Amino acid sequence: MDALIPIINRLQDVFNCIGRPPVDLPQIVVIGSQSCGKSSVLESIVGRDFLPRGTGIVTRRPMVLQLYNVPAAPSMDRSRQKASSLGTSASSGSAGGAAHDGGAASGGKDAGAAAAAAEGEDEDAEPRAAGGEWGEFLHRPGKRFYDFGEIRSEIARETDRIAGRNKGISSTPITLKIFSPNVLNLTLVDLPGITRLPVGDQPADIEEQVRDLCLEFIRKPSAIILAVSAANTDITNSDALQLAQEVDPEGDRTIGVLTKLDLMDRGTDAIDVLLGRVIPLRRGFVGVVCRSQRDIVDATSVEAARAKEHEFFATHAAYRSVAGRMGIPFLIALLNAILMASVRRSLPEIKSKITAMLLDITSDLDALGEPVHAQSTATQGALLLSLLSRFAANFVDVIDGRSEDVV
Ligand code: GDP
Ligand code: NA
Ligand code: MG
Repeated sequence: MDALIPIINRLQDVFNCIGRPPVDLPQIVVIGSQSCGKSSVLESIVGRDFLPRGTGIVTRRPMVLQLYNVPAAPSMDRSRQKASSLGTSASSGSAGGAAHDGGAASGGKDAGAAAAAAEGEDEDAEPRAAGGEWGEFLHRPGKRFYDFGEIRSEIARETDRIAGRNKGISSTPITLKIFSPNVLNLTLVDLPGITRLPVGDQPADIEEQVRDLCLEFIRKPSAIILAVSAANTDITNSDALQLAQEVDPEGDRTIGVLTKLDLMDRGTDAIDVLLGRVIPLRRGFVGVVCRSQRDIVDATSVEAARAKEHEFFATHAAYRSVAGRMGIPFLIALLNAILMASVRRSLPEIKSKITAMLLDITSDLDALGEPVHAQSTATQGALLLSLLSRFAANFVDVIDGRSEDVV
């Protein structure tokens, strides 16, 4: 998703200055039957191990994953400087989030915490292993998780806390921010799967409750729907496709994802589904092979899983000819294209809202008159003004590819 990083980040920077996004940026939402592989697909897209996955009901609360791009960490001998630059970016990147009240003070505090972490004073911190990446939960403000395994345990603990220990579900989301040099400023949503029969503490109308929960997230026009179905089940019964159809009948923002191609009965394949001959989908289907339960037990790495998936498509008699359109890397490329189109569609609205805000700010600045006591407010206002005007002037050119200069 490299190409989009500068554009989406610029947009986010401006939104952060404004305080609140003038339009909803696209969110990627996964839906589907229980255990069809939703969490596995999301995790593969992010490329990190941190989501609880497994047989049975594992995801029992919506998981809102906010990815924030931060500058790559310089070498370790400059760890103190690195920590302070990451701290500053993190605080600007998380405006509107939990822990920050804005301004230089909170940036400084963050930088201090990061510096302490880099020196190993915080026993939870493993910045070396994490490669400048960490996670923060909305329900644990200020606590940085450098170990992605620990993030997974915290998700499980927090799921139990609200949804109980006996398979209950809750519509209250868990919000996790991940800060990394390798991600886009983007939100991904993992949801509980659709089931028919209540088990454990689940209410009698569990199916309806989960459907409503999914609809709530995918109804937003800004949601890009990953409708996940397992290849070893009948696609014409797909819960994901049925739900997606309800809110996106034209299929403009739905991508079909077919998991578990490696688990199909010997002698069968899903080529007809993948080619859209069974259920036509405007944006088509992408077949993927994620990690099996065995791979989870063996702690197979993301890289090893990618290599295995590549090998699977490249050598499979039925899929070899379409291998270039299969797999997680292709799914990411497709998402990239859809995100780009979606941001482009929002541009006129963003532009007019920014223009309106510029007018407001200009008149506010005029009202301040000669800045004596209001010195710092006026300076901030002027900075914001210049940032916004440069943005408004250049953004359309940038996104249309007429200019390489991202503001
Ligand atoms: P979710 O309930 O839809 O979120 O599904 P999970 O991601 O938790 O996956 C359920 C189970 O299916 C786990 O044991 C995964 O390892 C396994 N799984 C998911 N995708 C695949 C796949 O493509 N191939 C194989 N063999 N197993 C998969
Ligand atoms: Na599952
Ligand atoms: Mg799940």
